[in-house]
Parts: sequence; C-alpha cells; structure tokens
Amino acid sequence: MSLKRLYRHMNREIDQIDQFLSTRVRTDHPVIESASRQLLDAGGKRIRPAFVLLSAGFGETKDIRLTKVASSLELIHMASLVHDDVIDDAMLRRGKPTVMERYDETVAMYTGNTLFGEAIRLVSEIDSPEVMRIMADTMERICVGEINQIQDQYEWGQSPKRYLDRIARKTALLIETSCAAGAVISGASPQTVKQLSLFGYDIGMAFQMTDDLLDFTAKSFQLGKPVGEDLKHGHKTLPLLYSSEDPDFYERLRQVNASTDAEVTKSLVREVQRNGTLERSQRTIDRYVNRAIRRLDGLPDVPDKRSLIEIAQYIGKRKW
Ligand code: IPE
Ligand code: IPE
Ligand code: MG
Ligand code: MG
Ligand code: MG
Repeated sequence: MSLKRLYRHMNREIDQIDQFLSTRVRTDHPVIESASRQLLDAGGKRIRPAFVLLSAGFGETKDIRLTKVASSLELIHMASLVHDDVIDDAMLRRGKPTVMERYDETVAMYTGNTLFGEAIRLVSEIDSPEVMRIMADTMERICVGEINQIQDQYEWGQSPKRYLDRIARKTALLIETSCAAGAVISGASPQTVKQLSLFGYDIGMAFQMTDDLLDFTAKSFQLGKPVGEDLKHGHKTLPLLYSSEDPDFYERLRQVNASTDAEVTKSLVREVQRNGTLERSQRTIDRYVNRAIRRLDGLPDVPDKRSLIEIAQYIGKRKW
C-alpha cells in the first residue's frame, strides 16, 4: 500500500498542517525564508505529523493544538535534515539541492536554527507544560545523538549498542515524541500515552534501520537524496555491523577513512549487497515492527489503531 493511500483518512488534516507550516516559515530574512520554504515545498513523507494525528485518535479532544504540535515536530525534523546534510556533505534532499549546496554551511546552520526557533514558538502556544517538557528533553537528546554521530564517523570498531543508541536519539525519539504529544493533547490516559510512546520508539528504530538499508538498495531518484554514501562517510549502519562479523571484511573496512578512494568504498558496498547482511537487516527490522505493533495490544479499537498498524507495516517494507 502506498503512503498516499495510508493517509487517505487524514488528507485534509495533513493539508491543513502544510498550509499552517507555510505561514510559519516566514522570517525577516529572505535567504533563510527561501531556504526553509524550498525544503517545505519539496514535500517529504510528513510521517511525524501523521503519527501525531493518529495517536490523537485515542483521546477525545481534537483542536488547533494538534496542528501546532504536529507542525512543530515537522519543523524540528526539517531542521535536523538541514544540519544532517552539512554533516553528510549531501547535495540532494527531497529531490532538490540541499540548503548547503544552494547556499553554504553558514546559511544551513542558521536555517536549521531558525526552524528550531519556530518549533519552540509553536510549542509555547500549546500551553501544556507536559508537552513542553517532552519536547525540550527530545531536542536535547537529539543534539547529543547528532554529536555522537560525528564522533562515531570512521569508528569502525564501535559496538552494536552504540549504533542502537545513536539511531534511538537521532530518529526514534522524535517519532516517539510525535506519538506521545498527539496522545497527551487529545487527553488520552497515561497508560495509552505510555503504550503509544513505546510504539513510536520501536517504529522509529525500524524507520532508521530501513533508511540505512535503503542506502544500500535504493536509487537516488527514488529517495530524492544520495544513496550508497553511508559507508563512504564512515557511518557504521546495521548492514555494516553485520558485515563486520566477517574478519576479512572488517579488516578492509577498518582501512576506510575520509580520503579513501571511491572505487574502494564502492567495492565494499557491492560486497554488502551480496553477503546476505541486507536480508539479515530486514529480519531485524521486521522484529522491531512486530514489537511496535504488539505495543498497541489492549488499546481500544478506534479506527486510527488500524491505520497505525498499517503504517507500521509500511515502514518495515518501505521503498521511499
Ligand atoms: C529522513 O527522514 C531522515 C531520517 C530520520 C531517516 P524522512 O525519511 O522522514 O524524510 P522526509 O521528511 O520524508 O524527507
Ligand atoms: C538521519 O540520518 C538523520 C536525521 C535524523 C536528520 P541519515 O543521515 O541517515 O539521514 P538521511 O539518509 O540523510 O536522510
Ligand atoms: Mg546523517
Ligand atoms: Mg544524511
Ligand atoms: Mg540515511
């Protein structure tokens, strides 16, 4: 099933969030505004806002605060994309030139910070100390994850635990927060908030693992961003963790650094594509997806529960 079809029940709400975001990326600086707007208009999956809306299906209240919190989560996500593209030296994002490519690193840094600023303003308008606290914690923990990501580059001896901690911080946390915030705002019970948070965490882990898998299997035009680059940039992702169990592969991977010849990294990528570790990564993803779905056990059978399960299944198999 396509994402478009999965969103069919909430097209109107997602459109509303897009329109709302469009009014909120306005700033006094034309370059920063243009950079933010281009990223917004280029699209993207809007998966974080979707999780806010679906999680709110377990509560009673639906009002403008949901649009605001969903928009703020998308803004935090967009900010982290702009910064990530600097770290990863990426030229393409959502099928368009990255802010760094179009302008420079400084503009990218300030565009990201401006998006963060707007996200904070939106959260402050929600007037919920609990959501405020969750968002502040999330932002701080994401920042630690981003720094770890830089420190971990070309650290080929790092443990699987380090990988899991990194992806938890940089990706799973924001998806967990999307689910928690939607549930809190809608007035769902603390137990429901807890279960949806755990669901969001597991599906967020699966989401980053599929992203890491797609780096080895997809084409750039499908994803709208570069592929085959994690290894070259020294990011030890799941398929590389598994491949490193082979001493011969590990020995060659260990030699890779920022100045390694592209032919050498490409041949290692080709090896990963054939050594069975992508299939093994897929099995790990499936386990996370299944655990995520089990987290919903016992929650009331509201219509949005079915959609959450369908989106979880989509994430495990996604090609975009
Ligand atoms: C990309 O996120 C960064 C990761 C956390 C893997 P998305 O895949 O959600 O990016 P967009 O929003 O669709 O562009
Ligand atoms: C996701 O990691 C980083 C963020 C949370 C922004 P990636 O570096 O794998 O993201 P992509 O693949 O460039 O979207
Ligand atoms: Mg990155
Ligand atoms: Mg990247
Ligand atoms: Mg990636």
